Amino acid sequence: MNPRAAAHRILAETRQGSFADQVAERVLPLVAQRDRGLALEIAYGCLRLRARLDRRIEACTDRPLKRIEAEVLDWLRSGTYELTELRTPSHAAVNETVKQARRAGSGAGTGFLNAVLRAVASDESDPFPDAREDPVGHMSTHGSHPEWLVRRWLERWSKHEVSALINHGNRPPPVVVRLIADLPPDALAAVARDGVEVAALPPWPRSYRLERGTPVEALERLPAVIQDPAASAVVDCLGDEIRAPVYDACAAPGTKTMGLAARTNGIVVAADASRRRIGRVRAVAARLGLPVATVVADARGPALASAATVLADVPCTGTGVLRRRPDARWRLDRDSLAELVELQREILDGCAGIVEEGGTLLYSTCSLESEENEMQVEAFLSRTPGFARDELRPGDFPNGCVTPAGDLFVRPWAHDADGSYAARLRRVG
Ligand SMILES: C[S@@+](CC[C@H](N)C(=O)[O-])C[C@H]1O[C@@H](n2cnc3c(N)ncnc32)[C@H](O)[C@@H]1O
Repeated sequence: MNPRAAAHRILAETRQGSFADQVAERVLPLVAQRDRGLALEIAYGCLRLRARLDRRIEACTDRPLKRIEAEVLDWLRSGTYELTELRTPSHAAVNETVKQARRAGSGAGTGFLNAVLRAVASDESDPFPDAREDPVGHMSTHGSHPEWLVRRWLERWSKHEVSALINHGNRPPPVVVRLIADLPPDALAAVARDGVEVAALPPWPRSYRLERGTPVEALERLPAVIQDPAASAVVDCLGDEIRAPVYDACAAPGTKTMGLAARTNGIVVAADASRRRIGRVRAVAARLGLPVATVVADARGPALASAATVLADVPCTGTGVLRRRPDARWRLDRDSLAELVELQREILDGCAGIVEEGGTLLYSTCSLESEENEMQVEAFLSRTPGFARDELRPGDFPNGCVTPAGDLFVRPWAHDADGSYAARLRRVG
């Protein structure tokens, strides 16, 4: 399959409601290995930078975007992305895009597509609001993040910080492998001779950036999972020896489960509400030879009567991982935030009910939003007298990752990692 046609398929199916990563997983194998990078770059780039591209397109046509056929608008976005972000020479970007659009059946729209792309190629204007005079306008168009989210973030952090957060959310993330076991001294050199090169990622322990080779090749050669350091830091909140039995209440796809199992001298039960996703946990545990029992269960009513350690890595808005889920920002709104906060509250209560006395409940998200993080935890502590916060020690984590209250909060712009939050809670009575 032609890479531009593949990118277009990913955009079309995502527009119709599918998740971009799931469509990409299906479509990319149809593309020659050497072209897969380009297909993914165009598709994910168009999703991330949709608002920026739309503003550029608007500057080059009198027709309102709403009145452009959706298929043609997708081709306009991908052509504009190639011209303005990838700096593909204009004749190649325009001709190839129009050719693929014609092949895909957008015949009637190709004259218009050709004319607008040529205008974009020669347009030297700056169509974005001024960053100083209208920061919200600039960040929601050039920065390509939803306006409501930009406004929320500006209420909390400085312009400088929000701008850095937005830039971070628009950059493709590195692939990071996290070792779940110690390696003999020469192991990484041997793996490098075998085609997989990784580089340490200070200040994050056991995290390595993949420099050469594919993620699949890396996982075939190393006792590791693909995991951002911000997610690894959540597991680190439980220390090096985790008390069993362990219940991982929202476990799929299981990257944190493996970190738990490697540090637990006893049973780890991994649960998830999704039957399809729990299968992934089983597969990863089998690859690594770790003793993990899996069960399909709702975290609001856990499948274990009691546990010494419970991880509630709850479903959340994921505003800390927008760079990894290029379509996610456009699905979020205030209503989905409110629904998730309610579900998280119920999961926290359900999980708290099985923690044995002296045991630990680790609550975590990959969100930056206070309602899902510290406000959620404060509300839990004030309605649940048997629990107290077990404060993390700042010295155990990279600089600035522990809040004054003693929770983990990894800020993407400050730590060059995804965003994550975790509160360690202990059952005291
Ligand atoms: C943030 S992800 C977990 C990521 C996982 N802990 C890891 O590190 O690989 C949240 C998970 O919660 C699951 N989920 C959603 N609602 C749930 C519920 N009510 N009970 C249990 N799991 C749920 C989703 O299927 C999803 O797999």
